[in-house]
Amino acid sequence: MKLIRVNNYQEMSRMGAKEIIKFVNKNPQGVLGLATGSSPIGLYKELVSDYQQNSTNYAEITSFNLDEYVGIDKNNPQSYYYFMMQHLFQHINIKENNINIPNGSAKDLKEECESYEDKLRFCPIDIQILGIGANGHIGFNEPGTSVNSRVHIAELDKKTRIDNARFFYSLEEVPTYAITMGIKNIMEAKKIILLAYGEEKAQAVYSMLKGDVTEKMPASILRKHPNITIIADHKATVLLDALGDQEASV
Ligand code: F6R
Repeated sequence: MKLIRVNNYQEMSRMGAKEIIKFVNKNPQGVLGLATGSSPIGLYKELVSDYQQNSTNYAEITSFNLDEYVGIDKNNPQSYYYFMMQHLFQHINIKENNINIPNGSAKDLKEECESYEDKLRFCPIDIQILGIGANGHIGFNEPGTSVNSRVHIAELDKKTRIDNARFFYSLEEVPTYAITMGIKNIMEAKKIILLAYGEEKAQAVYSMLKGDVTEKMPASILRKHPNITIIADHKATVLLDALGDQEASV
């Protein structure tokens, strides 16, 4: 596990994007695992600006998003599909057919989970981008989710709904369920890059790195992954710094 401390959001985004661009150039048929939320927006912006300047080629790249809200159609501006189109996909030359995001408005959600799982089985993820919830969730794997979980329907934690209410007009509008890759799917990615910024993430980052490895703190399971880099700003590492812990910093 490598922890890279950076000064701010922009540095975090640049560093994450650099890794992805290097990977895409070396592996034009690679498979990217993508996240939504505030953490990767800057990284996607960097990918778009690199694409405009250097024509990095995504024509044969495949992508899999971590999750999607249940009951929200892909054309709804609150959907993660819409988010990905807006922040990344419509600006680069990735093919629509190579984009995979769970369908949260599928009639049969169980079948949708199985079909997403099948696609992942045939197309293992090379690099997975992750954010981290203030409660330590990864994807929508909330505290208490099994380490053996695969693609499933998750009930969102109260804290997660409150945190995500900023993207909606009211808390009531925030969906209660989502389809999410499970912890096992995430752990199967060959490489993971986790982005954490801001003081709201300080406790989660601390517990992920220094607390027990436990299902109560889903991100702590990542300590068992053989190839994970955490890129975090100084606000997110403030509790580690309080320990005088500069271990693994660069
Ligand atoms: C998003 C996802 C979530 C977020 C997490 C952090 O696809 O799976 O786990 O990464 O909630 O969200 P932000 O980045 O908005 O703080």
